[in-house]
Amino acid sequence: MDLAELTAGIAAAMAGAKDRGQVASYIPELAKVDPAQFGIAIATADGGLFTGGNADTGFTIQSISKVFALTLALGKVGDQLWERVGREPSGNAFNSITQLEYEHGIPRNPFINAGAIVVADVNLGGHQPRVAIGEMLRFIRYLSGDDSIRVNQAVAASETTTGHRNMALAHYMSAFGNIRHPVDLVLGTYFHQCAIEMNCRQLALAGRYLMLDGHHPEGGRVVSPRRARRINALMLTCGHYDASGDFAFRVGIPGKSGVGGGILAIVPGRASIAVWSPGLNDSGNSHLGTLALEELAQRTGWSVF
Ligand code: DON
Repeated sequence: MDLAELTAGIAAAMAGAKDRGQVASYIPELAKVDPAQFGIAIATADGGLFTGGNADTGFTIQSISKVFALTLALGKVGDQLWERVGREPSGNAFNSITQLEYEHGIPRNPFINAGAIVVADVNLGGHQPRVAIGEMLRFIRYLSGDDSIRVNQAVAASETTTGHRNMALAHYMSAFGNIRHPVDLVLGTYFHQCAIEMNCRQLALAGRYLMLDGHHPEGGRVVSPRRARRINALMLTCGHYDASGDFAFRVGIPGKSGVGGGILAIVPGRASIAVWSPGLNDSGNSHLGTLALEELAQRTGWSVF
């Protein structure tokens, strides 16, 4: 399989797509992003890197940050995390509050917003948000081997002033005792991690530990093989919210989407893939990104099934 040809072909097909979905508008700064963009990068287990389209254009990783945040939180508290966050698909939208009432402030999984806010509370660990964000940036730079990765402050500020649903989620969980720090500090951490800006190339590189059973490609271990498999399992079952089943059906590999239009997808033992196109489908996942991964999985035969 010629992956250079494949990424170029997929990028060319996506460049001509008419239906590109809708750019997220509930974060005003994201509404300004030009929908006529598409990028793809594939990092392979044998050290290859193949890119197509706008693979070097930065975008905010948004909910994809929840994968890195979960990895850090498990490193801090291990399996105790599961006393505060579940491991089941929610079947609800990423920002839904309904289940929290009858499930006593315990979010269904670490990838819906409520779960990621609990994870941010763990990662805060008694420090200021800038300390927790500094740690996350160092971690992502180490994973991708790229020190230029930064927070997009305009997007972070935009979400800080408009993120009323997340504020509601955080306060509600605080009332159940499942948020331990002041809500503004937890949300400061969460909004800034979501506003980390990366391009497809950097994101595919950052995901390599999940295709390599937890190993860093340059040596050493990021997480144990068991933990890497579990994170991949959660990406498959919960990574696309109420569209996780559809993504597993259509693409068949673990994936985590973000409302900035990025998707990180992992083929264990083979590839770490990043796609990006800002227009979203009705479930808030990249429309062309999903189509591109569907095409890629079909053409390569890559699947966990
Ligand atoms: O909290 C939010 O609403 C955004 N910062 C992240 C949501 C997101 O990426 C949902 N994914 N598709």
